[in-house]
Amino acid sequence: MAQDDDFHVPVLVDEVVEFLADSPGQGEIMDATVGGGGHARAILQRIAGSRILAVDRDPEALARAGKALEPWSGRVRFLQARFDEAARGAGIFGPSLRGALLDLGVSSRQIDEDRRGFAFRSGEAPLDMRMGDETEGGPTAADILNEWDEEELARIFREYGEEPRARRLAAEVVKRRASQRLEKAQDLLDAMSVVHQRPLSAKEKARVFQALRIQVNDELAALETALPRLRKALLPDGVLVVIAYHSLEDRIVKHTLREWSQDCVCPPDLPVCACRGEALGRLLTRKVIRPTDEELQRNPRARSARLRAWRKAA
Ligand SMILES: C[S@@+](CC[C@H](N)C(=O)[O-])C[C@H]1O[C@@H](n2cnc3c(N)ncnc32)[C@H](O)[C@@H]1O
Repeated sequence: MAQDDDFHVPVLVDEVVEFLADSPGQGEIMDATVGGGGHARAILQRIAGSRILAVDRDPEALARAGKALEPWSGRVRFLQARFDEAARGAGIFGPSLRGALLDLGVSSRQIDEDRRGFAFRSGEAPLDMRMGDETEGGPTAADILNEWDEEELARIFREYGEEPRARRLAAEVVKRRASQRLEKAQDLLDAMSVVHQRPLSAKEKARVFQALRIQVNDELAALETALPRLRKALLPDGVLVVIAYHSLEDRIVKHTLREWSQDCVCPPDLPVCACRGEALGRLLTRKVIRPTDEELQRNPRARSARLRAWRKAA
């Protein structure tokens, strides 16, 4: 059986399995970001009789998960799709899932493979950053840097990367691309160095690269669309587990799950309740769950993980 460790070490595995185990006995569990199949394998091993709908937009991840989950092949079906399209793609049009898992972001394998261009470790890496393949048709990081308006670039650097010199960086990119397209990680790093006029920390570089990745993969919009679709696809008492890795996505998850867990969501000055008047379910994590020190020692890449879980009303 393929080991997941060289591909991706799954995060908060015991917690994920515990929440999903306490869900209705029938129906599949959608692992909407199956990656190397680490969480899926733990679910199949530890939740008796469980069945998995394994989804990823990255065909290489799906191939890897296929190998890792081979011993349970009779209990798994695979789907290459964005998670916001997954229910429809799998032919799910009403409540049928006992659980759903979103383990957001990129896998270690995606980060470690220079040709995917997610990291700045190799200046030669192409500015690609697409998680899916060409069939999705979206822009690469290079397309965005070379073709989008200066204003839009500044917004991406500021909103998604918290880059304090977002405007200046956007202007520098636009200036450089007039003479030569930015194609490699080093081209972006050079633009950043000119703007900051000092050596940049790995964190500062990572934030700008992450900002582009969020835009390339339309990550926040996909999450906002996926959450209500997954809720609708859950059976009564079904459980949704989400692991986020940066504050922008965690904020969306936190607010959405809170809103679903309130009886009344009318504005406070409305005299009579005019909304649904009943919570759609309840939060299972009053406080966000983070990896223990012990887990972080084993897997430092888990350090930014934040898990929230929610149960649909009966
Ligand atoms: C952190 S990894 C998941 C790792 C997995 N839980 C495991 O145990 O190996 C995130 C995965 O989600 C996939 N992904 C990210 N955004 C996606 C989206 N919008 N739709 C489908 N898959 C997505 C990535 O391709 C990547 O394989």
